[in-house]
Amino acid sequence: MWKKLSLRTRLTILYAGLLALLLTILGVTFFIDTRNLLIENTASHIRATAKPIIEHWLYGENLSSQAIEGTKKKPDSKYLKKISRQLARDLTSRNVVAIVLDKNGKVIANGKVLEEEPAPVSPNPFYYRRAFSGENEVTYILSTDNKNVLVLLIPLRSAPGSDHVLGVVQLSSPLTPVERILYRHGLTLAVGTLITLILGTALGLLLISSALSELRHMIATCQSITEGRMDQRVHLPQRSDEVGQLAQAFNRMVERLEASFSAQRRFVASAAHELRTPLTALRGSLEVLMRGAQDDPATVAHLCHGMYREVLRLSKLCEELLDLAKLEISENVQKEKVVLKEFVNEFEEQARVLSQEREISILEGPSVSLKADPNMLKQILFDLLQNALQHTGRNGRIALGWKLGDNGVDIWVEDNGHGILAEDLPHIFEPFYQGKKVSECGEHHKGSGLGLTLVKAMVEAHGGSIEVRSEVNRGTTFLIKLPFE
Ligand SMILES: Nc1ncnc2c1ncn2[C@@H]1O[C@H](COP(=O)(O)OP(=O)(O)O)[C@@H](O)[C@H]1O
Ligand SMILES: [Mg+2]
Repeated sequence: MWKKLSLRTRLTILYAGLLALLLTILGVTFFIDTRNLLIENTASHIRATAKPIIEHWLYGENLSSQAIEGTKKKPDSKYLKKISRQLARDLTSRNVVAIVLDKNGKVIANGKVLEEEPAPVSPNPFYYRRAFSGENEVTYILSTDNKNVLVLLIPLRSAPGSDHVLGVVQLSSPLTPVERILYRHGLTLAVGTLITLILGTALGLLLISSALSELRHMIATCQSITEGRMDQRVHLPQRSDEVGQLAQAFNRMVERLEASFSAQRRFVASAAHELRTPLTALRGSLEVLMRGAQDDPATVAHLCHGMYREVLRLSKLCEELLDLAKLEISENVQKEKVVLKEFVNEFEEQARVLSQEREISILEGPSVSLKADPNMLKQILFDLLQNALQHTGRNGRIALGWKLGDNGVDIWVEDNGHGILAEDLPHIFEPFYQGKKVSECGEHHKGSGLGLTLVKAMVEAHGGSIEVRSEVNRGTTFLIKLPFE
């Protein structure tokens, strides 16, 4: 369900959820803090008001006047009982009602007289025992039928700071005024939170939408590319963030795809063209034969010879095309350990047969072995050697050698032939490309232009690379870099 929602909806929900959580936590914390502060304030206000009254009644003039009479110097239970009514009365006001408890927890005086004065709550033994034991600030909130009452207990000591507690004053004050303030406060907070949440979510939605608009633009571009418009690109030059990087990566990918598609189209067109030439020649010869040339044995022999050549060309082309196709599949490279020296020695024998009177020198390098497909390696060297032979004169010299490279072996094939024109050089590895020098030099070989394409594909299938250096009328060097593994 969640995954089915659009990214925009998901991000907005997430954002609004987080905002709501944050605002709730802040609001609740703020509300609780305010409530505690208000209650604490009320409590300390009540205590501050009560303190001088209690001191007056317990240790003030009243007691002294009795002391002069010679009865008491310190207040005792009796004295407390005597003054408790007046003390409770003095401590009671419109908001606070006081009761006095004696040592046994019995109410000995109740301050409520007037109707508008709040009713006292019944004392809770758990708390007043704590006050009796001398604890000064016993405060608690009592909840009775929807009403919260703040209760404060003050021990009445026989002398200031004495441990001897005569009784306890219980002051209780309804929290209604505090709650009224808190209610208004809470309402303001809730409305504020809601407004912030709505505005924040709207703003978030706007921001997310604008951030994602470029992605939607990319989706649209993708769709038009899918429909075949390969020239489409995503233009986000002003963005350097992830979306901008995605756009750049996307453009590079499309560029590569476009290049590879057009290379493929060119390849098919060239292949068709290459196939058409021998087929046209064959058709021509066959037409001549069918028109009755068979009566002339010389013509027949000539035509058959030509046709055979074209058929050979066609089958070679087919072989090469098949080889190229095979190289696309990496499983077709069967690597095994090749000891380079042994391998080249074996190759040299076959090369000599091919070279006729031309000189082939082997420049042996360090004895190394590498992992390679020996059949492919042989074909690579064979193709390069054949090219070298084709492009050197009768007394040409060809050299083959190897040395240790950066991370593998560098094998080179060098000739002192007529070289490659600078304008041909960047293209010689392209399928069906043939240099102009070939026709100029009038060699009778008719290649397909697939030889070096195959060589390059085979080298790359080994994880290697191929380079060429050539100077017209000086010679050409092909350098193959093969990794050890
Ligand atoms: N050793 C070389 N010396 C000069 N030119 C070369 C050499 N090897 C390759 N070339 C040039 O590269 C072109 C492509 O070679 P290749 O792919 O083997 O095709 P092909 O041999 O079928 O013409 C050749 O037509 C030729 O112009
Ligand atoms: Mg060739």
